[in-house]
Amino acid sequence: MNRAVWRYGGMAVAMAVLLTALPPYRLTAQDAERGRVVYDKWCAGCHGDTGAGDGEAAAYMLPRPRDFRRAVYQIRTTASGQLPRDEDLRRVIDEGMPGSTMPGWRGRLSARERDDVIAYIKTFSRFFEDDAPAPVEWGRDPGASDDDLAEGRRLYREDTECVKCHGEGGRGDGPSAPDLTDDWDFPILAADLTENWNFNGGGTVEDIYRRMRVGLDGTPMPSYTDAIEAGVITDEQLWLVAHYVRSLSPADPPRVRDVIRARRTSLLPAGPLDTVWAQVQPAYIPLVGQIIRGPRQFVPGVDGLWVQAMHDGERLVLRLAWDDRTESPDSDWDEFYQLLRGTLTDVDGPLPETQGPDRLVIQWPLELTDDVAMPYFLGGDARRPVSQIVWHNTPPGLSVGTATGLGTYAAGDAGGIGYLAHFAEGQWQLQVDRPLIAPDPSVAPSLPVGVPVPIAFRVADGSWGEGESRVAVSAWYAIYLDVPTPTRVYIQPIVAGLLTAGLGLLVVFSAQRRANVAGHNSEVS
Ligand code: HEC
Ligand code: HEC
Repeated sequence: MNRAVWRYGGMAVAMAVLLTALPPYRLTAQDAERGRVVYDKWCAGCHGDTGAGDGEAAAYMLPRPRDFRRAVYQIRTTASGQLPRDEDLRRVIDEGMPGSTMPGWRGRLSARERDDVIAYIKTFSRFFEDDAPAPVEWGRDPGASDDDLAEGRRLYREDTECVKCHGEGGRGDGPSAPDLTDDWDFPILAADLTENWNFNGGGTVEDIYRRMRVGLDGTPMPSYTDAIEAGVITDEQLWLVAHYVRSLSPADPPRVRDVIRARRTSLLPAGPLDTVWAQVQPAYIPLVGQIIRGPRQFVPGVDGLWVQAMHDGERLVLRLAWDDRTESPDSDWDEFYQLLRGTLTDVDGPLPETQGPDRLVIQWPLELTDDVAMPYFLGGDARRPVSQIVWHNTPPGLSVGTATGLGTYAAGDAGGIGYLAHFAEGQWQLQVDRPLIAPDPSVAPSLPVGVPVPIAFRVADGSWGEGESRVAVSAWYAIYLDVPTPTRVYIQPIVAGLLTAGLGLLVVFSAQRRANVAGHNSEVS
């Protein structure tokens, strides 16, 4: 007996001992009765009173909350087409489904309540009356060298055809992506494989392997067990694909910092693809849907922005990169867009009839003062206006102007501000540069060196029906332009200011959480 087999054999023995020693993990009718109370309070707003996935809030969401009557589950350790085990349901209820509105419940419900609610959701389908299926067994991860990663990439593009849906860069923009619908005929996006922290079933190599092995039932994502059995691909090769997919995301999920640092340089980069950018650490800015005033966005098209900055004492250059499947409008996505329009109900009115342009807004306070009270993060207000740089791709252009709230933007003279935009493999890379001394102080502030300056962003994906107000927004951050010789950084006033801004984001997050958890919020109804 070789060692690996012995180990698994040993584990099986240990399991068997445990199983005979402990009462079997079986949920009872009593649990289900208690689970109904938990469900009605916490789950029905999205999943519906009868489990049909049609709660009050469901119509604003995509992906839609699961319809439990069909007993089709994505996150399983069981074969494609089979029911999940209680452990599988437990995992998804504990962790939630990142990248969707399904929250994690570990911190909010007791272990008992979570067990009870599992027992209850199983009562929505008679299929659960049968014996629980066994988990699929598979071998150990053989590991992967750099050469193996190259082979994983080849398999991803050729033998397994992941590329057809997930695209060359893995950002969910493959040629088949605009044709995808789920089992309920809702439009569905192929996952962005460069953001493993958003994977529904976890982001480790083994999680990814498992998803490929058993599929995501109810979605077009296939199970590759058949491909292994048909000899199209070996189990070992499937592990290489999992390693390759893992390598598309950063080693750790991005850490959010309050300050974007603009490094001082004597030679500014020539464009967003200039290799000198590789020397500058990108700051990750998370974006959330704007749900404070209509038209709102509950499911933002873009969920984060990578920002880099450099300056030479005269000009500031920013590089902004974000994932977006489409260079909007994109006629390949017309049919998908109409399906999206028909799917998302909106109290603020339907999505625009046709796809609009992609758009990015950089926002500063119009006046930089020592006053710690900052303009309202959603485009300022009458007392404290903001200055905005607004870039759009169709027609290509950029303007500078002021605003006193969403929808009030008035463009001024963009004199002195330049940009270069590049779209490839489901990603925008935009370089914007401006003089530190504003040519026209009535539309833009001059930027001091050595003092943190508040900055905020908004990003709209035109193929997702977004624009000025139905948009993804950030809170206030700060940008700090390095001084020639490093001196102590005084961030005192700005920290106070950011606290105020942080409250702004808190409002967004908690409003969203309320929408998520309660299934509706007062601003909607
Ligand atoms: C027919 C289209 C299609 C093909 C082919 C396909 N996928 Fe997917 N994949 C999807 C869709 C759609 C989703 C998103 C499901 C969702 O939103 O719940 C997805 C999701 C994923 C996820 C995220 C899983 C999670 O936990 O959320 C990973 C990882 C993934 N696919 C990897 C792959 C790999 C690797 C291949 C090739 C071996 C592949 N996919 C082939 C359509 C496809
Ligand atoms: C804010 C809305 C919302 C609330 C509240 C919510 N869910 Fe969900 N849930 C979703 C969405 C959306 C999905 C589907 C996500 C996807 O397909 O990627 C989902 C999916 C699920 C799934 C399917 C997992 C799978 O493997 O396919 C389970 C189980 C589930 N929810 C259980 C619950 C339970 C239990 C509660 C209450 C404790 C709850 N949900 C509350 C939105 C919600």
